[in-house]
Amino acid sequence: MNDRQFLYIANWKMALSLHQVRALCFENYHGWQELSSRSDTKIVVCPSYESITDVVDVLQGTQVIVGSQDCSRFERGAFTGDVAAYSLQEAGCKYSLVGHSERRVLCQEGNKEIGQKITQLVQVGIIPIVCIGETLDQYKSKKTYEVLHKQLEPLQAIVHRSQQQILQVCIAYEPVWSIGTGVVPEHAYIQEVFAWMREQFTNNDIGIEYLYGGSVSEQTSVALKKIPEINGFLIGSASCSFQTFKNIVLLQ
Ligand code: PGA
Repeated sequence: MNDRQFLYIANWKMALSLHQVRALCFENYHGWQELSSRSDTKIVVCPSYESITDVVDVLQGTQVIVGSQDCSRFERGAFTGDVAAYSLQEAGCKYSLVGHSERRVLCQEGNKEIGQKITQLVQVGIIPIVCIGETLDQYKSKKTYEVLHKQLEPLQAIVHRSQQQILQVCIAYEPVWSIGTGVVPEHAYIQEVFAWMREQFTNNDIGIEYLYGGSVSEQTSVALKKIPEINGFLIGSASCSFQTFKNIVLLQ
């Protein structure tokens, strides 16, 4: 780990109902307060849309930051069912996931949509957390870098366009075969991927945080934290219990 704050991003997906999210925040208020006040730690929670304003309200007085799990690729207008980046910003979101593998696969999102979403987020000052990662087949057929290269294209284009501005983004490398499976790739492999990702942005990396996601748990986190290239974690199922999430933050 380096001396920057280590970022813990909780992706609650659609695993919790509105009432469950409220309870997770309300019943652990002091815990959230304590955990988020650690100088070496930054905590972001990403509830589903309907819970965002509640989470912002309930966690007021803590340093927990709220993010969203996605956003519309359009700015505003007749897009039934979509949620605009500017509304998310008004609701109090500071971060947003984009291009999560579940959306790439289940909603057929591709580079074009993901690039549009990153643009919307950047325009309203929300930090995009761009998720990338190869499937098991791609991993086995040694296509990882080809896939990641392609998935990074929309971000590359935006970084290129905003040369003069300080652009803050996160890249979450999540091997698809590691999400929700309990399987974490060999650390040498993860390290190699992170080194490669950093090389892709050598001239612009000031505002980039590099995160790992995929089966981060109490069992896997301690060893993963020792990989110096990793600035933080994107945590799915293990983040839905406060105690488990807290242990992941605290265990060294
Ligand atoms: P997981 O999910 O921690 O449950 O593997 C991570 C993610 O999908 O972001």
